[in-house]
Amino acid sequence: MPTKAAYSPLPPWPRSNYCGLLRAADAGREVALWGWVATRRDHGGLIFIDLRDREGIIQLVFNPAHEPAAHEVAEGVRAEYYLAVKGKVVLRSEGTINKELPTGEIEVVVANAEILSASLPPPFPLGAGVEAAAEEVRLKYRYLDLRRPEMQRNLRRRHQALRGVRAWLDGQGFIEVETPILWRSTPEGARDYLVPSRVNPGKFYALPQSPQLLKQLLMVGGFDRYYQIARCFRDEDLRANRQPEFSQVDIEMTGPRPDEVMAVAEGMMASVYEYAVGIKLEPPFPRMPYEEAMEHYGSDKPDLRFGLEISNLTAAFAGTSFKVFADAIARGDSIYGIALPGEHQLSRRELDEMAEALRTQKGLGLAWAKSADGAWQGPIARHVSDEERARVGAASGLGGGATLLMVAAPRDKARPVMGDLRLQLGNRFTLPDPAALRFLWVVDFPLFEYSEEDKRLVSAHHPFTAPHPDDVGLIDSDPAKMRALAYDMVLNGQEMGGGSIRIHDPELQISILRVLGLSREEALGKFNFLLEALTYGAPPHGGIAFGVDRIAMMVCGTDSLRDVMAFPKTQKAVDPMSGAPSEVDPRQLKELSIKVVS
Ligand code: AMO
Repeated sequence: MPTKAAYSPLPPWPRSNYCGLLRAADAGREVALWGWVATRRDHGGLIFIDLRDREGIIQLVFNPAHEPAAHEVAEGVRAEYYLAVKGKVVLRSEGTINKELPTGEIEVVVANAEILSASLPPPFPLGAGVEAAAEEVRLKYRYLDLRRPEMQRNLRRRHQALRGVRAWLDGQGFIEVETPILWRSTPEGARDYLVPSRVNPGKFYALPQSPQLLKQLLMVGGFDRYYQIARCFRDEDLRANRQPEFSQVDIEMTGPRPDEVMAVAEGMMASVYEYAVGIKLEPPFPRMPYEEAMEHYGSDKPDLRFGLEISNLTAAFAGTSFKVFADAIARGDSIYGIALPGEHQLSRRELDEMAEALRTQKGLGLAWAKSADGAWQGPIARHVSDEERARVGAASGLGGGATLLMVAAPRDKARPVMGDLRLQLGNRFTLPDPAALRFLWVVDFPLFEYSEEDKRLVSAHHPFTAPHPDDVGLIDSDPAKMRALAYDMVLNGQEMGGGSIRIHDPELQISILRVLGLSREEALGKFNFLLEALTYGAPPHGGIAFGVDRIAMMVCGTDSLRDVMAFPKTQKAVDPMSGAPSEVDPRQLKELSIKVVS
């Protein structure tokens, strides 16, 4: 095997072109290329190598009769070796053209070749078939995974999307300002990542869950229109669309009405789609009040790519002799149903499995009936009178052959359960069109929601969200009824961004924090800097933040954030490549005045 040329950190010749950008028009040119060996085929004379760089692949030809030294190099190379070659671009003969490749009409006849770096056999193939490799392995060798064309494409599209963000916001007069990472906790509903301070023993910085308070302070500071591509950190339960560390396009404006923030955000999204994928969106996007979203879709981020709306059947079942429902209605519970049209049939086994899952996961029963020839079939059919059947049929839009799935529970429990069931049915029958882009604004959120876990009201967005001006008077009498000046942008059932008009009056801010369980003293202790800033001529302000990773995910058409982040973490918040988080030297802990107890 030929050894590498004597070690040099510098390539032997400059690159003239990227492999993947050569075209038939380049035929006849002498080129110098660098790249990885994607494949190597030895035809017992000629050797063919597909050389890959970030732009794609070009076929190299090594001919022992003409260039024996280069051919000898080619004999020794293996997958993922990094080569420098010089040669001539030639047109391929008619029968050997590869129409699948943008470079398929040409090849490079190599005159000189050098191995710049050898490679161990890669732990998984970097071409087609990588899907078979476990994600854990791909993340462990992320630097190899990143060489794959899909990852190259995704990260470049993400870059283009961010260009679209910057171009639009710059055009609208927004100024990019960076804010600190080592700061103090901004409550966004997750746990904080803490960083101990060596010079202030026993004290901690909190990594920002978002720059929320800092951007508000920038409005007090006179920047008027701010944005930032901001890194955020949240210690929360991770799902497919959440990472512990992620990026936001964070935006704040002085004195906007919700409509103005939404118009800026729509323009930004249109710019993103234009830059990233060349698709023209057509804002304004439709709006739906929160209550309607919950009532018809059981979610504050409805996927509008398919129907299967939820119906409230409580009134239709009033006075029923079906005991389970009669008892539920007597308790004040609600009955919600989904009518699954006749063309989508669930087997008895699937229905039983769904019922079992609901029972074990939510402690709820699933009632179902199939409508056939004007009658109902199924376990509850004989308990339901003709009039009820007619009322329920009308309320749920139940057609012939359809299956009605029903749940009885307190309203706030029943709706999300039905929302999940709706998504499950949508997936089961592949109803959402993967190519559709259904944007939606959800508006008129409540200011607070009741947390079963904390047994008190918590902010539906965050504690700095302004109440609807008509509802401020309810703060002492009925805070749960207050509406917020908040808005979320939803795309295909994913929350892309959320924002609000903020409180700029310190007394109102203190009252809101009181509803959230903080006394005046506690509020002053925790948020003194904000409350003080609001006493110095703070202008009204509002804004929004978008998940950059989620935007990238949508423009790349993938359903995992890990496909659009260079170095993501696993569901367990671990980086398999570096082993982070890791133990640290006891000396470091000592310096930080920290003792690990478990
Ligand atoms: P919010 O908490 O809704 O609002 O976050 C805004 C957007 O950030 C994205 N996002 C995430 N993306 C990936 N991983 C996560 N763990 C994660 N958490 C949130 C979502 C979400 O819509 N300060 C407010 C914004 C404001 O009021 O202006 C905030 O952070 O796309």
